[in-house]
Amino acid sequence: MAKLKIVKFGDETLRKVCRPVDEITPRIKQLLDDMIDTMRAAEGCGLAAPQVGVLRRIAVIEVEEGTVYELINPKIIAFSGEQQDREGCLSNPGYAGITKRPRTVTVRAMNRNGETYDLTGSDLLARAICHECDHLDGKLYTDVQIRPLND
Ligand code: NI
Repeated sequence: MAKLKIVKFGDETLRKVCRPVDEITPRIKQLLDDMIDTMRAAEGCGLAAPQVGVLRRIAVIEVEEGTVYELINPKIIAFSGEQQDREGCLSNPGYAGITKRPRTVTVRAMNRNGETYDLTGSDLLARAICHECDHLDGKLYTDVQIRPLND
């Protein structure tokens, strides 16, 4: 179990466009494990590699305890509907905002075994997918928030 340091808003790293993963090495698998540990320790429901200082297209999501999705080179291939709800980020602790996102999205990604899979999610899972994919392009939820929330 390794907990990584989470980069905070204001750090340039979070504004970079990440590079695709072309080979799943033991190092990438270790990174996935460490990202999952880090996300859980911080009680978040998603974490992207740039948030731990790694500029690669990798993210992990766990909106339902025990169900972890590993997304390598994820790409949103379909979306529909609309939702407005609360969104936060482990890189911006203590803050949240209301964002507008699609109600349902389908993302195509690779898992750690190099297998391509499609994941369709609605509501919180759809928000998490959009949020984490945005991170890989240097985009933050505050870029798309309708209004900040004080809680
Ligand atoms: Ni985030």
